[in-house]
Amino acid sequence: MATVTLETAAEQFAARFAASGELSRSGARYIPGGYSRHSLTFGPHAIYVERGEGAYMHTADGHRLLDFHNNFSCNIAGHDHPHVRKSLLDLVQRGYSFGNPMRHEHRLAEMLCERVASVERVIFSCSASESCLSAIRIARANTGKDKVAKFEGGYHGLGDDFMLSLHPFRELFPGPANNPIAVPNTAGIPRHVRENVVVLPQNDLESCARILQAHAAEIACVIMELQTGAGGVITLERDFVQGIRELTRKLGIVMIIDETITLRAGYHGMQGLYDVQPDLTVFGKMIGGGVPIGAVGGRAEYFRMAEEGMVYHSGTHHGHPLATAAGIATLEVMDQAAYAKLNTQADRIRKELGAWAAAKGYPFIVYGVGSHLGYEITDGSARTYRSCRDMIRRSVEPKMQTFAFEMANRGVFPMYRGQIALSQPMTDGDIETFIGTAQSVLGDMF
Ligand SMILES: Cc1ncc(COP(=O)(O)O)c(C=O)c1O
Repeated sequence: MATVTLETAAEQFAARFAASGELSRSGARYIPGGYSRHSLTFGPHAIYVERGEGAYMHTADGHRLLDFHNNFSCNIAGHDHPHVRKSLLDLVQRGYSFGNPMRHEHRLAEMLCERVASVERVIFSCSASESCLSAIRIARANTGKDKVAKFEGGYHGLGDDFMLSLHPFRELFPGPANNPIAVPNTAGIPRHVRENVVVLPQNDLESCARILQAHAAEIACVIMELQTGAGGVITLERDFVQGIRELTRKLGIVMIIDETITLRAGYHGMQGLYDVQPDLTVFGKMIGGGVPIGAVGGRAEYFRMAEEGMVYHSGTHHGHPLATAAGIATLEVMDQAAYAKLNTQADRIRKELGAWAAAKGYPFIVYGVGSHLGYEITDGSARTYRSCRDMIRRSVEPKMQTFAFEMANRGVFPMYRGQIALSQPMTDGDIETFIGTAQSVLGDMF
């Protein structure tokens, strides 16, 4: 007999995080919803934070939470890492806003080129949203074509061209699975933008080939995450991704891999794990060490910029020294050994918790590549998902919400939408805490 239900978990959440609820309400006097990131709402409201320290954060309600959210996977070095802090403080003392470049962006660009084999040139912006827009502009400029192909369930930030067929809500998936139709995920997307976006099905190479071939004369680029995040965690399979590489090369379509989250999968990115080299790569999140950043990298020939009459790229804060300094320090922390440790810890969660849930007969799955994992409470009909359609059909939303509330109630903060992201300061004890807390919550739910 379940002792934890959505009602009890939500009631306890409201009581434990009452100060956060109050802050959301008072903030709403000036900011719609109380804060500027729609995605922070964790049930009724966001949890406000006072400070972070290593793998933990302290909330405005006086609770210490083990942070498995890590700003939607961004904080791979955790909170207030001494190496990152030092590089920021050194810079702050010298000034950090000039109408002049500083050296930091050179080093960060160099580090990305050293780590990611397909990258020879890099341009920075302030967010991955902006860099995704720059990437498609580069693709359009280089091909003379206009259309963008994206995957159903794929997220590439706020740009109009990307806010289509993203979130796994049943009513937003019209059209057959092998021929999806682009539907907006927000009001305000112009019709001409919708008409210029082609939507592809995940892990279905035959259908992708048919769709891409049919529109090849108009499609400038295919943009893809190798493992999705905001649209729910789905891993694109290695053979499938290599198949898309071959197809795009053959059809004269620029292949863009958005590694905003997946750079944390391995020292050479997830493209390194898959041994695939796209034409362009988008970076974000972890390469700014927690300070806003985005970047596009790729083969040199694509980076013919305004001076050559090609692509204009500029912004007041592009390549900001704070972001590039924190990014360099973060990548320095994330050497090969740090990646190996983090991925071993993530594997442990996947294997131990997954096997435990399967043995108990609980409809809970945990999966993914690297240190950003997906978890789902299913209707019991599947233990793997190959597409976001699988996910929406089979995941049980009220149970997912109950689990997320109750994890937070018991001191562990996951992403409410079925994701966790580890950070470098996590100890094996922290991993055991996560596994143990999840087991106790699931034991009380089923
Ligand atoms: C894969 C991917 N691309 C792009 C973005 C947009 O990044 P930003 O929020 O920095 O604009 C995100 C953000 O979550 C993302 O996960």
